[in-house]
Amino acid sequence: CSTAFAPKQGVSGQTGKVLKSQIDLPQPFSIALPLPAVLTPDGIQDGKTRYTLTQREADVEIVPGFATTIWGYDGTFPGPTIEARRGEPIVVRVSNELAVPTSTHLHGGVVAPESDGYPTDLLVPTRFKGRVDAAMLAMHKRAQVQGQQDGSSAHQHPTDAPAEPDPKIWTLHRVAKDYHYACDQAASTLWYHDHRMDFSAPQVWKGLVGSFLIRDAEEEALNLPTADQELLLVICDRSFDADGQFAYPALDPTLTELSGVQDDYMDGVLGDVILVNGVPWPVAKVSNTRHRLRLLNASNARQYDLTLSVNGESVPISQIGSDAGLLARPQRLDSVPMSPAERFDVVVDFGTFPVGTEVVLENTLATGDSGKVMKFIIDEAKDDRSELPDVLVKDFEQLRRQDAQKTRLFDFRMTAERMWVINGEAFDPSAAGTRVERDTVELWRLTSDFNHPVHLHLGHFQVLTRDGREPAPADAGWKDTVNVTPYGVTEVLVKFTKFEGRYMLHCHNLEHEDMAMMANVDVV
Ligand code: C2O
Ligand code: CU
Ligand code: CU
Repeated sequence: CSTAFAPKQGVSGQTGKVLKSQIDLPQPFSIALPLPAVLTPDGIQDGKTRYTLTQREADVEIVPGFATTIWGYDGTFPGPTIEARRGEPIVVRVSNELAVPTSTHLHGGVVAPESDGYPTDLLVPTRFKGRVDAAMLAMHKRAQVQGQQDGSSAHQHPTDAPAEPDPKIWTLHRVAKDYHYACDQAASTLWYHDHRMDFSAPQVWKGLVGSFLIRDAEEEALNLPTADQELLLVICDRSFDADGQFAYPALDPTLTELSGVQDDYMDGVLGDVILVNGVPWPVAKVSNTRHRLRLLNASNARQYDLTLSVNGESVPISQIGSDAGLLARPQRLDSVPMSPAERFDVVVDFGTFPVGTEVVLENTLATGDSGKVMKFIIDEAKDDRSELPDVLVKDFEQLRRQDAQKTRLFDFRMTAERMWVINGEAFDPSAAGTRVERDTVELWRLTSDFNHPVHLHLGHFQVLTRDGREPAPADAGWKDTVNVTPYGVTEVLVKFTKFEGRYMLHCHNLEHEDMAMMANVDVV
């Protein structure tokens, strides 16, 4: 890696390579911020609210004057927001009209293993019909062979694509798959995205991303800003080719689908255009009231250190929640350091400014337009009935070092052969996983040679230390993703509360993930 690091707790400079767009890009802050549609339920069956989502291609205008072909849930990017309530299980029937297999993962969800979206638990496209298995496996085989031939590190993991899919490795669903979500977890901002083995990065880049909110009565009783004072902001970067299509540096662009990433992008793919809710550098008109911003970093590899300012003067940000729910109490942050897949729930008080004020959201880790994110224009005076209480969660369960019954080490690193591995091993879906016991607390020591946003399925954790010191303020709360900084040691206290079976731990830099920086975790 050639990038110079500017060490800072939580984030430490950007790594990865920027893919330059080939078209004229819109002026930042010229297009209105849209909000993703909220998914309408189909009805209730056996006491569970049912939804359907269809993965399909669609042409959408992202840059004015160009039709960009996306792969989207219900043909939208980001996909529709699913709004669930704690304690009310739902079923989402996902179908797949794309040309490629998919696996849909609910990130941050406490979900049974069959519905977790494991990378080889695939929903085969309807159009594959009879040829399904051979065609699907041929893609993996081609990508693997390509990786071996040109020495690129993609797809060198030990899973050999056999002539017949080994049912111990592959689970193939046809037509549709019902994902069952228990929603038995704290109110939080979760998200769903594609998790297909070897191909998550290009498939997410094409648009397979959506948000999933869990609400509950405890949170509603706090009277936090809601309705039009609550904005979901899905932030990600993309680049456009000369035709206005999403550019991705695939190994072999002639494949009928996207293949693995070119070797010189193995640190991660960065786009030069910052999208919020699928729109480049939008502008939002807001009232002079408190606003709750649910921030999600849905980028493949881009890190952000977000600041809000008025004419260069910094605007205070109150963090109220992290990945997996509310903090014990709000805390002031000067900036929001966000690695891929992290969520920050924050409150900003626009009521402290006169109508007409413009507030800019920027990323200090990037320069030029890539460092801009979006703008708010305060254009309406309104009574504010919302509150920001001093206490958000009364009996917040703060884990302590002495709660841990086991200590484990997970090392995230590049090998001499230029492979991204965990504890020296590339991902093998058939390998025995780390066995953890449900309802116990473990101390996991995460070490790294790079910025690796480490993500755990099913279990949530709290950051205990960073590099032998107190964690950064932004590390607070229950999390499912934490950025482990280069040559850093991050200690987390991990807890799995429900469900048993096969889950995983992986780097959420999606290029690293596709290059097999994943490991099985078996909850028993
Ligand atoms: Cu958001 Cu296993 O990932
Ligand atoms: Cu996840
Ligand atoms: Cu990584």
